[in-house]
Amino acid sequence: MNILGIETSCDETALALLSVQDGNFSLSKNLVSSQIDLHAKYGGVVPEVAARAHTETIFPLLQEAGLNPDGSEVDVIAVTCGPGLLPALRIGLELGKTLAFVWHKPLVAVNHLEGHLYSPWLSSGHPQFPALALIVSGGHTELVLFKDHLAYEVIGATRDDAAGEAFDKVAKLLGLGYPGGPAISQQAAQGDPAAIDFPRPMLESGDFDFSFSGLKTAAAVYLKENPGAPVADVAASFQQAVVETLVQKTLSAVKKHQPKSVILGGGVSANPLLRETLQQSLKETYPDVTYHAPDLEFTGDNAAMIAAAGYFHAQDRRFVDPVKLIARPNLPLA
Ligand code: KG4
Ligand code: ZN
Repeated sequence: MNILGIETSCDETALALLSVQDGNFSLSKNLVSSQIDLHAKYGGVVPEVAARAHTETIFPLLQEAGLNPDGSEVDVIAVTCGPGLLPALRIGLELGKTLAFVWHKPLVAVNHLEGHLYSPWLSSGHPQFPALALIVSGGHTELVLFKDHLAYEVIGATRDDAAGEAFDKVAKLLGLGYPGGPAISQQAAQGDPAAIDFPRPMLESGDFDFSFSGLKTAAAVYLKENPGAPVADVAASFQQAVVETLVQKTLSAVKKHQPKSVILGGGVSANPLLRETLQQSLKETYPDVTYHAPDLEFTGDNAAMIAAAGYFHAQDRRFVDPVKLIARPNLPLA
């Protein structure tokens, strides 16, 4: 089965053609056009600016993909329908609906977070069910019980800022620009993670929820009281607090729910300390649980992961009517 994936929920315009044969996933096209430079001057993503950029980019990207004009190599079209920025989501959605309509191809609607959950299927060694997934992105921080294909239960989520959002805000305080996650992890590599004792929020809360706004405030207060503090030390100590919190909560969820696999996904899964600490702690504490993080090229937003999730929708014949499909900016995972 060949799946055309389309993703425009935030600041990446992306198209991919994924082929799935006998359980093997192979990508013949994977195009991502990032708008990071465009949004950097505003210090964050401006929805209408993002939508305009998607409009300008999506057809050139489709041309670049070089698909047969009659759509003959595509069996199914998979498009992100939410969550995300409404004007941005609409651009990809309209392309997907139009192609499905004129090519007479089945259409599936994918939740963006499902895409992150399915990103490890783009690499070898697929997760086993039941799995536990930690999704950490710019908009979401969720612990998800991934019971079987397309069967999710959210067991914890952030009560305020998402982990990526906290990275972005603290980077801004440190004058590191947007997006902040990669800048903080680069600075952190030269800093001392034990230099500042930032709080580990919600570790004693007895549930699987997160909260990162207090940690962001702690960083702001520290910087105000210590104006000359070395940026690398603040970055390393902040990163250490976020990673320890994410890993500890994930381990408690593994203890309670006994999954066969743990999945890490979302933009923050590019963070080297998070990838390594989670892998190492699982290996030490739960050696039988397999660990799956996406390859670095699939940590951020892309259409390959949307096509991968779309494949399972199509297998389950969850087709949607292109005439009726609308963007759902607040679409929950389950
Ligand atoms: O999944 P994603 O590309 O977009 C959303 O769906 O939100 O995630 C983007 C987030 C941003 O907040 C960015 O700062 C963060 O991922 N990020 C990182 C790293 N690379 C990207 N956070 C920490 N460390 C990184 N290396
Ligand atoms: Zn994302």
